[in-house]
Parts: sequence; structure tokens; C-alpha cells
Amino acid sequence: MKINIATLFPAMCENVLSTSIIGRARNSGKVEIKTYDIRDYTLDKHRNVDDTPFGGGPGMVMQAQPVYDCCKAIEEESGVKPFVIFTSRAGKPFTQELAKELARKEAITIVCGHYEGIDERVVEEIADMEISIGDYVLTGGELPALVITDAVCRMLPGVLASEEGFTDESHYSGLLEHAQYTKPREWMGRSVPEVLLSGHAKNIADFRKADSLERTRIKRPDLYEKYMEKGE
Ligand SMILES: C[S@@+](CC[C@H](N)C(=O)[O-])C[C@H]1O[C@@H](n2cnc3c(N)ncnc32)[C@H](O)[C@@H]1O
Repeated sequence: MKINIATLFPAMCENVLSTSIIGRARNSGKVEIKTYDIRDYTLDKHRNVDDTPFGGGPGMVMQAQPVYDCCKAIEEESGVKPFVIFTSRAGKPFTQELAKELARKEAITIVCGHYEGIDERVVEEIADMEISIGDYVLTGGELPALVITDAVCRMLPGVLASEEGFTDESHYSGLLEHAQYTKPREWMGRSVPEVLLSGHAKNIADFRKADSLERTRIKRPDLYEKYMEKGE
């Protein structure tokens, strides 16, 4: 899969994308991730990419032309037409379901807004989807793009050591994952649940399933209700 990120701050993205699991996945060719500097596509001789908003108001707005030209250049370079996502407070809420859906695409381009946002006309012209990572306003679309990229990459074949790594995880099945423990067996007077030390695979699996259900019921009653309605 190819993931392209169009941003005014490629270095900020590269820092995160070159470390840990995503960095290894990139190096081993499990995923191709490229960052593009939108500023490289401006026609302005001072390399400006923003201007004041029509109608007045505070801040600056990213212009349509550099964003459009950057996405078109990515499309030409990709050889396939990437699915184009604009990060936006007004977008579809990002969920595990949506991450799974995006992981099935051959190529995606994620566009990062900045300042007061991007001229709406380029969004209308080329966006296949707008995505929000939550009901709060961030300074730019870089963190949302990294969140989306990370969640999508985890589901690509071979990125995690085993598929269980993600099929067990919170939200994959609609439930939160069971609690996790590691050594030592006792810490600050708290013991690890005895069953996890038993080596009995079926009892451990039953315990974890029950723990997963109970944690979801207590911590995320909204998810628990949805899960029970599905009758799973
Ligand atoms: C400061 S924000 C613009 C906020 C905009 N004026 C508003 O009130 O919705 C700049 C950029 O950050 C990104 N952004 C901010 N919050 C976001 C969120 N919750 N999810 C996705 N992208 C977000 C978008 O790309 C946005 O264009």
C-alpha cells in the first residue's frame, strides 16, 4: 500500500514515520509512505501558500492551487489514483472500522490543513473523504495524518508480528481489550490474576473474554451496548 502525506511540515511527519513499528514497516517495504511539501507546488515567487480570508476574520487560509497541484503531482507519480482524504474538524469521525476500510485501498493521499484551514473549493474539487480524529481543534492536520497512518499501517499484512496483534486489540471487535500484565508477579502489593499464571490456555482465553466484556461495560458503556445489540 502507498500512503502519501501532503503537508507544509514534512519534517514533523518524517520524525514519527521513521521510528518504531511504522519505521520498520517502511524499511522492509511492507508499506510505502511518502511526505510531500505543499510549498514546493506554489506558483508564488515568495513561496507563500496562504492568504487572508474573503469576508474578513482572523488568520490565514491555505490557497487551493498549491494543494491541488501537489495532489495532482502525487497522482501522476503514484501511477494509480489515490483515495484523497482531507483532515478536517468537519470530517467523518475516525474509527477502527474506517482504518480497516482504508487499509484495503491501494493508495491514499492525506492532506494536512493549517492556519484557519484550506480554501473549500479544492476540498470540493478533489476530496474523496474528510476525516476528523476527534471533537477538538488542533493546530494542523499533521497529527491527524499520523494518527490515520499509524492505525492503517497496523492492519497491513506483515506489519505486526502476528495478526492476533491487532485482532485482539481494543476496538477491532467492538470491545476494549482485556487488561495486560507483565513481570513481576507482585507489584506494590498487587498480584497478577492467578489464572494468567496457570498455563491453561482455555481458562486464560475465557478469563480474557470476560475481562474484555466487563472493562467495556464499565469504561465504554456506549460500545458495550452496541456490541450487545449486534448479538455477538
Ligand atoms: C487550526 S485548524 C482549522 C480549524 C478551523 N478554522 C475550524 O474552526 O474548524 C487547521 C487544520 O488542522 C486540522 N485539524 C484540526 N483539528 C482537527 C481534527 N480534530 N481532526 C482532523 N483534522 C484537524 C485540519 O486540517 C485543519 O484544516
